[in-house]
Amino acid sequence: MSFDEILAAIAKMMEERTGVVTNSDNLQILKNKIMQFCLIHTEFKTQEELVKHIASHSFNDEKLQDDLVEHLLNHETAFYRDKPAFQTFQNFILPQLLQQKRPSDPIRILSTACSSGQEAYSLALICVKEQAKIGDRQIKIYGSDVSDQTLQRAQSGIYSKLEVQRGLPIVELIEYFEQLNLNSWQLKEHIRSKVSFFQHNLFEPMPPNINFQFDFILCRNVLIYFRNENRPKVLKLLHNILKPEGYIMFGSSESMFSNRDFFRPISDKTDYLIYQRAESVDV
Ligand SMILES: C[S@@+](CC[C@H](N)C(=O)[O-])C[C@H]1O[C@@H](n2cnc3c(N)ncnc32)[C@H](O)[C@@H]1O
Repeated sequence: MSFDEILAAIAKMMEERTGVVTNSDNLQILKNKIMQFCLIHTEFKTQEELVKHIASHSFNDEKLQDDLVEHLLNHETAFYRDKPAFQTFQNFILPQLLQQKRPSDPIRILSTACSSGQEAYSLALICVKEQAKIGDRQIKIYGSDVSDQTLQRAQSGIYSKLEVQRGLPIVELIEYFEQLNLNSWQLKEHIRSKVSFFQHNLFEPMPPNINFQFDFILCRNVLIYFRNENRPKVLKLLHNILKPEGYIMFGSSESMFSNRDFFRPISDKTDYLIYQRAESVDV
């Protein structure tokens, strides 16, 4: 197998497992990440050794495939990433849900493709700040991602200095985190316990224990990595797991993908475009 053939095999394997596509725009990123992978996995001193290993094992080394997928996924995220999105949750979606739902019914929120959890925890932090309005209403926040390793990080609630400096107000760092050492902070237990994480690939059905619909879903900065023709499969799943009166948000560059067959924008008056289910769709 030549280097280009192996590159193509890695890109194919990545797409089969996650839907994340490699095209001419991100081919160089893939190459750089493979080089980085070799630096971290010291059993492969050079890219050529990795290529030789893959070729001699006919790319059947499951563990290597798992590690490569984990390494190649883009986990870029931050607390309160796209501030207007979180302002819209705080000022519009949360008050709407509190008003429209019976006090005895839990409010269920899902942050899909949540990476290392900052998005889900940002929602939890807002809920803590809005505690006076929420009272004893039950709000359950879930975070999901295809990547096991990044979910383990999310669950730990431990973030580097760089990560807590991105988007998180200093007052919140002081109030809601404990400093573990010079370079790491951990979210306090009462915030961590507000979020449950589970592994889920957006191209697959929900796990059997997640057998309910959500009042609010975030699906941000992930559709962009999928092929045009594959996005409706994900939108269909999201349509099915969103309550008819619930709300959904996409990434700011992804709203154009939110095919109107599945969701319709409800307002351009909020800080951020939000959608509800389009009921006409046959699902
Ligand atoms: C760029 S991050 C976005 C994180 C967060 N939603 C945000 O906007 O800050 C994309 C995440 O999507 C996840 N992902 C990629 N393909 C996925 C799939 N098929 N199902 C679920 N998650 C996926 C990746 O593991 C990664 O953590």
